[in-house]
Amino acid sequence: MSVPTGSAPPLTAPASASAEWERKPKTIDANLKDYRAAASTFNWKEVEREFDWSRTGKVNVVHEAVDRHAASRRKHKVALFYTDFERRDEQYTFQDLKVLTSRFAHGLTRLGVKRGDRVATFLPRTPELYIAILGIHRIGAIPVPLFEAFMEQAVLDRLGDSEALACVTTPTLKERIPLDKLPALQHLVLVGGAGSLGTKEVSYQQLIEGSPDWCEPAWLTIDDGLIIHYTSGSTGKSKGALHRQYAMVGHYQTAKWALDLRDDDRFWCTADPGWVTGTSYGIYGPWTLGISSVVIGGRFDPERWYQTIQKYRVTMWYSAPTAYRMLMSAGEAVARRYDLSSLRHICSVGEPLNPEALKWIKKITGLAPHETWWMTETGMQLICNYRSEDFPIGSTGKPFPGTYSTVVDDQGRELPPGQLGHLVVKPGWPSMMQSIWKNPAKYQEYFRIPGWYISGDTAYKDAEGFIWYQGRSDDVIKTAGERVGPFEVESALVAHPAVAEAGVIGKPDEVRGQIIKAFIALRKGYQPSEQLKQEIAEFVKTHLAAHAAPREIDFVEKVPKTRSGKIMRRVLRAWDQGLPVGDTSTMEE
Ligand code: WTA
Repeated sequence: MSVPTGSAPPLTAPASASAEWERKPKTIDANLKDYRAAASTFNWKEVEREFDWSRTGKVNVVHEAVDRHAASRRKHKVALFYTDFERRDEQYTFQDLKVLTSRFAHGLTRLGVKRGDRVATFLPRTPELYIAILGIHRIGAIPVPLFEAFMEQAVLDRLGDSEALACVTTPTLKERIPLDKLPALQHLVLVGGAGSLGTKEVSYQQLIEGSPDWCEPAWLTIDDGLIIHYTSGSTGKSKGALHRQYAMVGHYQTAKWALDLRDDDRFWCTADPGWVTGTSYGIYGPWTLGISSVVIGGRFDPERWYQTIQKYRVTMWYSAPTAYRMLMSAGEAVARRYDLSSLRHICSVGEPLNPEALKWIKKITGLAPHETWWMTETGMQLICNYRSEDFPIGSTGKPFPGTYSTVVDDQGRELPPGQLGHLVVKPGWPSMMQSIWKNPAKYQEYFRIPGWYISGDTAYKDAEGFIWYQGRSDDVIKTAGERVGPFEVESALVAHPAVAEAGVIGKPDEVRGQIIKAFIALRKGYQPSEQLKQEIAEFVKTHLAAHAAPREIDFVEKVPKTRSGKIMRRVLRAWDQGLPVGDTSTMEE
């Protein structure tokens, strides 16, 4: 990896933004009142005491997130508010979740699913997705959530690698599951649809209806598996980050101190459980705290988003810069039609929040979104701006109490303020991934600078201790907050009959942060044309996923590679920006 460590950082916040951004002392009616004091005295052991397992020794996240609330004054509290704005408008109490996840758990047991088995969910964002994930936990199996936009190749890679025994899906989505290529996959549990069932298929409804209302959770240890989230790196196919049950300690405390969740909150995490934000903070964080969560189905739509805040009187909103920018481009008039006054705190994740988007959200809600930095692999938020703390606009934040993130050079030496380097974390925080599924070598790569977990991001620290995210040091693409590996897109591209070679990069984009751009060398006999570009993009959409399809394609004679055959994405980026390509001595002829 080549990070220009030690160089002076570029200014993140444009001068105009900083000038208008007044830093003020903040109110302290927050759960975390004094960051400095907490950072110096905090001990995770104290958080462990908040969980029943610290007394009973019996561990299962479904007990902490559902059953213990169903046995408390929260029994009839709404855990999940759901609407898709069309057909469904529903509420589920903690007691409802206890019953439904119990029934589903019995159903899975009848199918022969056992502790430690992987069960995938491939569902649209509906209550059944949440019930399925928690039901899978109840029997001690490991959920593998797949994003509903995945197409056949993406589904095949993830179900194949995790060797999932069952997959909970719908009659529509099951068409993208190539059963014949997945020998481990024994059962498709189908949600909805009235048609006859095929081989290996069972109906979710029948499983739920024929089962008792109570299923005692499988009792696990804190080191047993919690969940596998597939995510992308700069090389190879997507990899499965396996988390352990103990991660709930991190989810709980960050939801309390960074999201600042309180008992009377209506919390809206806009992320899909196919991504880590949608489970760590769509399920584990809020529900271990016993908070009411709002979930909406359907596609992004500015009107619906504002309507959600108004309809449910959302108090805490957790979303991503791309969403804030898309709301911004829908204009102020739309925002002004809705009552957003219920909001009391907003956080942001997934990509850097640019000052313009931050200020715009502040303008329409009166609240500045607070950054939270973390990764699929870290499982929990690690660098945040806190509600009780003033922060400079554009900064990513400070390490969460009880964790330590910093900036180091190639040898792992901490750099002085203002110097650009690797953003790293001291290993040992509660939600750190336990392994990369079936790939110990990949796991080790994260720790190649001794003593540190390497995030792959570059950053610098300022004299006050704020960390400022600067970018990635590898080729991972972040488009609309979603992490996409160039290799996966390139593999999908070369499967198209016209494509001889393909190289893929992230190109800076005002709304999406980055868009996917492909450089393609065509096979003999194919002529470049606009139509062919569209055809190729469509091909990736239908084989991999819509968000992974290139929005821009350039046809080139040859894709630049090193003599050992590695695509030189640095050269592609230079081509794209019209900049000099730099040192090409390692390039093949
Ligand atoms: C980026 C999402 C700037 C970063 C939870 C990281 C951010 C990658 C921020 C992980 C932030 C996440 N500011 N960049 N607040 N949060 N990132 O695994 O590059 O999908 O390494 O996890 O997103 O992406 P992932």
